[in-house]
Amino acid sequence: MGYNAMRMVDIIEKKRDGHELTTEEIRFFIEGYTNGSIPDYQASSFAMAVYFQDMTDRERADLTMAMVESGDQIDLSAIEGIKVDKHSTGGVGDTTTLVLGPLVAATGVPVAKMSGRGLGHTGGTIDKLEAIEGFHVELTTEQFAKQVNDIKVAVIGQSGNLTPADKKLYALRDVTGTVSSIPLIASSIMSKKIAAGSDAIVLDVKTGDGAFMKTVEDSVKLAKAMVKIGNAVGRKTMAIISDMNQPLGFAIGNALEVKEAIETLQGNGPEDLTELCLTLGSQMVTVAGHADSLEEARKQLEEVIANGKALDVFKQFIEAQGGNPAVVDDPTLLPQAAYKIDVPAKEAGYVGHIVADAIGTAAMLLGAGRATKESEIDLAVGLMLHKKVGDRVEVGDSLATIYANREDVEEVLNKIYSNITMSATPVEAPALIEEIITE
Ligand code: URA
Ligand code: CA
Repeated sequence: MGYNAMRMVDIIEKKRDGHELTTEEIRFFIEGYTNGSIPDYQASSFAMAVYFQDMTDRERADLTMAMVESGDQIDLSAIEGIKVDKHSTGGVGDTTTLVLGPLVAATGVPVAKMSGRGLGHTGGTIDKLEAIEGFHVELTTEQFAKQVNDIKVAVIGQSGNLTPADKKLYALRDVTGTVSSIPLIASSIMSKKIAAGSDAIVLDVKTGDGAFMKTVEDSVKLAKAMVKIGNAVGRKTMAIISDMNQPLGFAIGNALEVKEAIETLQGNGPEDLTELCLTLGSQMVTVAGHADSLEEARKQLEEVIANGKALDVFKQFIEAQGGNPAVVDDPTLLPQAAYKIDVPAKEAGYVGHIVADAIGTAAMLLGAGRATKESEIDLAVGLMLHKKVGDRVEVGDSLATIYANREDVEEVLNKIYSNITMSATPVEAPALIEEIITE
């Protein structure tokens, strides 16, 4: 053993006993775990020690940066200005990214978005955009940078070996009961965002049934942890906590969400989706240094919706990436489902719950999302909700429409009925934005 040799067992014991680890100890763990010299059993014991003993703000920032440096980091320096990225901890029918790209870009803030496909109720942002005929994300880094400099928004497919330490550690946590640890989740999410190259980050932390964090209290803790990490490592970061006790907007499905995004950019979108986009967009414009306050940023966003600039940027963006911009004025050019099946209310009352997760699964059963990496997505199918929590409903009113490419939707229908519950007494619509964290 060399004079300064570190041993993983000492680091585990130090954390187990509640002490603060040094930057070097955290790096030693991440480097060793990434290159395989530290085995899974020690990493899993370490994760459990962190789960019980927590980490200080300094340790959390060090862990994040060690994971960032475990792999490639995207260099966006060819793009002018402060590049802002938005991350959502995952929701159902979350159309915000489609809206926010062109909306924020229309105020002059560069949005250089790297996106994936992934598993879920619907496809990811790229799948949704591919519902537009011809749209593609195979840009070279030069094309990507040039497009953002020219029209302020571009989307490129994920590439490179980003944060391999996180990939390995997250998979290990998944099978060792150590996922739900604030320092581990916060460093995991932030490492991926930082490696993706943005200068500033806005986080939408979802709370509720359909979300990763089920209580507002936990969501606030996670959001604050991530904001602290970002700001500690020189990336201006803000966050909001938003409700996921029901799906966002009305559309859940790929082409359906593109249409919903167009309507929102026209100023005719669902109230909750519009409000969420304006709230997140205000933070994006502010962290990019284009406004002195959230209120001022919001005015800029409202203006580009009202004067048509946001919609115009969406058209330019579609055209620049090979898509047919005519869909913006004629959404019937998007993939259309063969069958539209109404879901009428069987009882009168007030909508009490719309279990977001289960409604998302109903859309997935139709083919809107991937159950496994190999699944094919049907871009045309999905659900349109017509009622939200708190709405008054009479027997026979349409709760939702199923957009399907097969006639037999019995299973989907049942899933919808059992996950939209009615109350005999009035129900208050849940607050959409639970908290705004700017630090
Ligand atoms: N999402 C992540 O990316 N990492 C976590 O640890 C939890 C959720
Ligand atoms: Ca939606």
